[in-house]
Amino acid sequence: YAFPTIAPSILAADYTQLGAEIESCTATGIKWIHCDVMDGHFVPNISFGPMIVEAARRSAPEAFLDTHLMIEKPALYLEAFQKAGADLITIHAEADPHAHRTLNAIKAMGLYAGVAINPGTPLTQIEELLPEVDLVCVMSVNPGFGGQAFIKASIPKIQRLAAWRRQMGLNFLIEIDGGAGVDNAEIIARAGTDIIVCGSSVFGAQDRKERIQRLTQKTII
Ligand code: DX5
Ligand code: ZN
Repeated sequence: YAFPTIAPSILAADYTQLGAEIESCTATGIKWIHCDVMDGHFVPNISFGPMIVEAARRSAPEAFLDTHLMIEKPALYLEAFQKAGADLITIHAEADPHAHRTLNAIKAMGLYAGVAINPGTPLTQIEELLPEVDLVCVMSVNPGFGGQAFIKASIPKIQRLAAWRRQMGLNFLIEIDGGAGVDNAEIIARAGTDIIVCGSSVFGAQDRKERIQRLTQKTII
């Protein structure tokens, strides 16, 4: 994959036509699809589980399914999301006291492993996990809902994480999630972000192709 890249979040899609929604993205060259799983406990909202991930997999057999688990006890559900067709599973550092073990369990299944942190969680909380992960997701909104305003302090957080990555000689991908769109995609990409999750910005646009092209253009730095 060529980074930085846009990863549309299907949380903002029209579920009466999920297949067509996903195809409107892949038809415009999108390779990553972001699936937001919410349990109503870790975050104050419920979205979907493995059945929708499996439907996304069938809609886009070639896509890279980036599965963001905003759930408690993620270790209990790894197999279900693997069976559904996830390529990468991201767990929240705040949701799992044994994140190190869970991340290694994800990799042992042959999947890529990611760790996500909320806006109020310091980078130091995941310092020891960095050598274990393929991706770090920096939340730029408090998770639970699409369409929220971007928290600007996420930019220096990404810059610090990118500096750590260099200093530690690691090569995990850096993802930003929440409130990204045409107005801030450029500054996000410049900070060192590899994957920009876009929910409402992509699925809220009538002209999907035009929006994805515009977002992609902003990330060419
Ligand atoms: C937040 C989710 C995000 C979010 C992105 O809880 O993890 O993926 O839906 O949506 P927008 O781009 O609308 O902020
Ligand atoms: Zn997400």
